[in-house]
Amino acid sequence: MSMFDKLEKIKYLIGNTPVHTVEVMNITLGIKLEYFNLFGSIKDRPAFNIIYEAVKSGRIGQDTTIIESSSGNFAIALANICHYLGLKFIPVVDPNINKDYLQLLKVLCSEVIMVTDRDATGGYLLTRIRMVESLCSKHPDSFWTNQYNNPHNYLCYYDSLGRELLNQLEGLTHVFIAVSTGGTLAGLSKRIKEEKPSVEIVAVDIEGSVIFNQPPKSRYISGLGSSMVPPLLSHAQYDKVLHVTHEEIIDGCRALYNDTHIFAGGSSGAVYQGIRQYFSTHASSHECVVAMCCPDRGNAYMDTLYNNEWCNKFKKTEQLCCI
Ligand SMILES: Cc1ncc(COP(=O)(O)O)c(C=O)c1O
Repeated sequence: MSMFDKLEKIKYLIGNTPVHTVEVMNITLGIKLEYFNLFGSIKDRPAFNIIYEAVKSGRIGQDTTIIESSSGNFAIALANICHYLGLKFIPVVDPNINKDYLQLLKVLCSEVIMVTDRDATGGYLLTRIRMVESLCSKHPDSFWTNQYNNPHNYLCYYDSLGRELLNQLEGLTHVFIAVSTGGTLAGLSKRIKEEKPSVEIVAVDIEGSVIFNQPPKSRYISGLGSSMVPPLLSHAQYDKVLHVTHEEIIDGCRALYNDTHIFAGGSSGAVYQGIRQYFSTHASSHECVVAMCCPDRGNAYMDTLYNNEWCNKFKKTEQLCCI
């Protein structure tokens, strides 16, 4: 079977995720459960779309080596897709990767490159990108998926997630979106503003991220924030930006679980906290139909957000009970 036919065969398993609707804070909240995607997260959508388009155009052949800098869900999605297609994938990761993800990458990929030198901002992103560029120059038939700058990242959200949300949530009034590469925000906001301009789009970022021109500061939660302004942000149309602290994300994850029984990752907790803050200061009513995504499950955060000892670095234990 050709790579293209193989991709067609699993296409229906990515996207069309369910929405769980709950009544909280005097609003109707629709929670898009993105961890139901085939390989476990929202990043299955852009990883699949980028590879799909490159296979379709002939840019990727059976001997192409796929290279990407990611320590998170994007690497896991790419590793699974490349393994399925019989393609070599080299993920470039850093020491902040969680141990289960590293183990899975080592199982699925013959080569995993770990960078250990911090860049000028104190993070690893710029070092990882330099490593990707060096690997690409060494592999003559290589393809850098480049999630930060590839339009097929945000276009998959424009084509799928944005349309799905509009179909699944009648009377939609607000959408809250976590930001890292800006792909979700750009694609979703473009689709929603085109079809229903009255919907308010709220971007949620973490303290210390420079995406929305805040001063840089160390960040300890993966999945949201960035140490550079992502080029895809230029396609986004948003009305408001909220920043949440590490403490607030810890609270948000627990509140999300206690209020809805959804056990989700850091960006979900961040967005839920953003919604709680927003509706504590703005008038709410059952006429407010609010959408958020849960990009991944809480399992990958057992050593961090769901580990009281780790959380104690940010806030006191007695406030951390309940799960
Ligand atoms: C768990 C999680 N949430 C949110 C995001 C942010 O998505 P985007 O890169 O589209 O801004 C990511 C991206 O990696 C993620 O892994």
